Amino acid sequence: MSICCCLMEMILTQFDAASIRAQFPILAQEVNGHPLVYLDNAATTQKPNSVIDAIANYYRYDNSNVHRGAHALSDRATEKFELARAQLAAFINAPTKEQLLWTRGTTEGINLVAASWGRANLKSGDRVLVSAMEHHSNIVPWQMVAELTGATVEPIAVNASGTIDMDAFAAQLDARVKMVAVGHVSNALGSINPIKEIIALAHAQGAQVLIDAAQSIAHLPIDVQALDCDFLVFSGHKMFGPTGIGALYGKRDLLEAMSPYQGGGEMIESVSFTGTVYNQLPYKFEAGTPNIAGAIGLAAAVDFLQSFDRSAADAHEQQLLNSAQLQLLELGGYQLVGTSANKTAVMSFVCDFAHPQDVGMLLDQQGVAVRTGNHCAQPIMDQFAIPGTVRASFSLYNNQDDVAKLMAALKKAKMFLA
Ligand code: ALA
Repeated sequence: MSICCCLMEMILTQFDAASIRAQFPILAQEVNGHPLVYLDNAATTQKPNSVIDAIANYYRYDNSNVHRGAHALSDRATEKFELARAQLAAFINAPTKEQLLWTRGTTEGINLVAASWGRANLKSGDRVLVSAMEHHSNIVPWQMVAELTGATVEPIAVNASGTIDMDAFAAQLDARVKMVAVGHVSNALGSINPIKEIIALAHAQGAQVLIDAAQSIAHLPIDVQALDCDFLVFSGHKMFGPTGIGALYGKRDLLEAMSPYQGGGEMIESVSFTGTVYNQLPYKFEAGTPNIAGAIGLAAAVDFLQSFDRSAADAHEQQLLNSAQLQLLELGGYQLVGTSANKTAVMSFVCDFAHPQDVGMLLDQQGVAVRTGNHCAQPIMDQFAIPGTVRASFSLYNNQDDVAKLMAALKKAKMFLA
């Protein structure tokens, strides 16, 4: 056997899609009388047994409040909670674990930066750039702080294939641009944005950069130091972890200079009516009892993601996307929306005979779960002059059988609706 074949075999044995799928109990059920075909992974991923067990075991054996109690359970909970932080920080290669703040998810992370960094650093005449295909959560928080400060929020042009127009972006940059906030991957289209280039261009003009990694964290390796981003946010539930937990990474000098986002317990060093002293990083930003079970569950999700070859998992997802896209076009009547050459496994499409919602309903009746609508990305739908799309988003536990069932369901939907 050649060295090349040996290597290929090693990679294949490091990612066994069938055994991965078997770790997700929710997938082995029927919906509307059909085996479930779960293709709404961009909305939320399903959870492996190890994550479910980590959360249940925390409540079963360790439940207690962190950083507070003078007893064994509290010590145990605190240790697991802080180990989870260190594990997540290492997962994105943050220089220190104090730069990894727990949030409720991507949306809260962006709101925290917009409210805290934005109020202190934006003034009238300043500009915030976001791509035209951002999720509402990376538009509205900036509009809210712009209203307070007099800054403006402007879109970065996106072309017809769903990729950022880098020339237009470079021409847009000037000394008044203080923040560039972009998604690593578009939730609506799957386009992977050239964030390293975007960060370098923005920094050359003195702007800070926030990366929304909600849609990339489960699919692509993230190294915040190599990227040199100023802030990066993501959600646990899109990377096989629980809902209600996510993280915000920030450069230390920026986080140190920022005011707390919320006041309460845990975020203070001392409180008196003559003045309050805030706690150090990361606790300054973590008022109240945190989502302890969520952090521990998310650490288990990182363990899961590190239990196989992630590039082989990505190759598996790309195969599913390629074959789904080819078969969709063969069916006729359906058109792809978002045709960037560089995409995660998101297939967004419309048809000329029905509204996306009607197609989604017929798929659901056949056990196929997809998302329909504007995907909280109304500006890019408006640009494409469509009300929304049907979005099938694949994950590593999907297989060619799922693709075949999706195609059969789409064929039926066409017969029924066209
Ligand atoms: N942002 C999630 C999605 O794209 C909910 O579906």
